[in-house]
Amino acid sequence: MRLEGRRALVTGGASGIGAAIARRLAAEGADVTIGDLNVEGAADVAGEISGLAIELDVTDLASAEAAVQSAGGEIDILVNNAGTDDFGFFVDMTPERWERVIAVNLTGVLNCTRAALPGMQEAGYGRMVNIASEAGRVGSKGSAVYSAAKGGVIAFTKVIAREGARFGINANAIAPGPIETPLLMQALEIGEIGEKIIENMKAGTQLRRMGKPEEVAAAAAFLASDDASYVTGEVLGVSGGMGMTG
Ligand SMILES: NC(=O)c1ccc[n+]([C@@H]2O[C@H](COP(=O)([O-])OP(=O)(O)OC[C@H]3O[C@@H](n4cnc5c(N)ncnc54)[C@H](O)[C@@H]3O)[C@@H](O)[C@H]2O)c1
Repeated sequence: MRLEGRRALVTGGASGIGAAIARRLAAEGADVTIGDLNVEGAADVAGEISGLAIELDVTDLASAEAAVQSAGGEIDILVNNAGTDDFGFFVDMTPERWERVIAVNLTGVLNCTRAALPGMQEAGYGRMVNIASEAGRVGSKGSAVYSAAKGGVIAFTKVIAREGARFGINANAIAPGPIETPLLMQALEIGEIGEKIIENMKAGTQLRRMGKPEEVAAAAAFLASDDASYVTGEVLGVSGGMGMTG
């Protein structure tokens, strides 16, 4: 029960990695609020964990501020998890498509952080866990804008770690590799990506397999807890060794 008494907001917690994180934080004792565009899905997960579900559009600062208020005003843990991708070669992209990817994956993190930081600073305590991606470190073919947004999340996390340190705020990022969630599996189902891409992703890991949402959630719970009290500004790869260099 490392998170007993802590208040957490998990964005994008209706599905996939966010749902697993919400379940794991609750299992470790946190009071969890799930904010998602998909409020029905959020309510289903919240129902399992005696949490709260609220409608949240991370692309909108006012919505992010309202979510933080609903979660209790001063939250201890913010997990910036909401994300989306729009697969395809960059040469085929349009501003409309890339603006959406930037808005959810990067601006969404800025909005929710901006909404949560004043309360954390006031309380002198905060744990921020940003779900980036190995794509943000190595670049993923067919996901140029997503990779750029996730690279931005990593740099942003480091600045929040620097600026938050004197207020007791730790900020870290997780870089998942390919994880079995609707984000990837639906893209496969509708033919946006092919089976070969999934096989290549597996081959790019040392463990030669996709990861599970629960494996990312375990890392998020560690970074959200005081077991990680001396860890800040880091990017933790949860990717079966995909991001190893050197
Ligand atoms: N699945 C992977 O292989 C993988 C790999 C690396 C990183 N990630 C990252 O993990 C995070 C979770 O992804 P997932 O795979 O669980 O995807 P998912 O599609 O299963 O879940 C994403 C959730 O975010 C919500 N969401 C989307 N736009 C939103 C918005 N504007 N406001 C609020 N909520 C919104 C969706 O409704 C959904 O519930 C994302 O940031 C994603 O980029 C996933």
